Amino acid sequence: MSHSSALDPGVIRDNLKTLRIGTEIVVHEEVGSTNEIAKASLERGDPEGLVVIANRQSRGKGRSGRTWSSVADVGIYLSIALIPEMKSVHLPRLTLMAGVAAVDAVNGFARSRATLKWPNDILVDNKKLGGILCERCRTPNAKDAVVIGIGLNVNHDAETFAEEIRSLATSLKIANGQAVDRLALIRSLIHHLDSEYEALLLSGEQPLIRKWTRNTKMFGKPVALTRGSAVTRGTALRLDDWGNLVIRTEDGNEVSFDSGEVTLGHE
Ligand code: BTN
Repeated sequence: MSHSSALDPGVIRDNLKTLRIGTEIVVHEEVGSTNEIAKASLERGDPEGLVVIANRQSRGKGRSGRTWSSVADVGIYLSIALIPEMKSVHLPRLTLMAGVAAVDAVNGFARSRATLKWPNDILVDNKKLGGILCERCRTPNAKDAVVIGIGLNVNHDAETFAEEIRSLATSLKIANGQAVDRLALIRSLIHHLDSEYEALLLSGEQPLIRKWTRNTKMFGKPVALTRGSAVTRGTALRLDDWGNLVIRTEDGNEVSFDSGEVTLGHE
């Protein structure tokens, strides 16, 4: 590993003026999953704000039980531990919040604009640059807590990706044609997460949903949404107040979904 790509915790922490996120920042060379470390911290009663970063993960988790390829030195694997003062029915908003923060941070480093695909894929040039996995847990005094895990493909070359995902995945290095400073992107990510979290707690979901909507290209487009073996085809219309995806189905009904895998551009 070249020195410039090392995840120096001192550089990440230096003069990081955040309110709630980053009160503690730990950097590991290798862990199973940063989400598991953040979850353990919440479950043993630590306060919110911990950021866990790893240079590689041996058991990186993706959505829907998939694994998240977490190659050393090239990606960002980061989790934050939150104990949000909000009703538990509102916790799904944190997923949208993380998406908005991640896309804003990435856009500070991407030559072509990054966008969001519901529920929370970060796309560049219509390929997947990153993903978000939110998991709930409880503190020892039974408060709802949430771990937000973010994986970003930063300095991967095409060959770094397994062959089966090579045509679907991209990295900032591939998109920009040159490597990106992971430390600078991590700092920006922590900043954006902190300010979006604060904005959500202060101003509620409407500004968040507007921001999310400004950062997607999927509305008005044909989509196919898969849940288990059921596929719904239609046009993606908007997010509702709960962050659910509203689709106008082929029979003209508007249906909202709280989960599912979306394929874009389906005719
Ligand atoms: C997805 O499937 O799109 C979500 C991927 C989330 C990956 C990140 S990497 C950091 C954190 N730790 C994990 O084990 N997963 C998340």
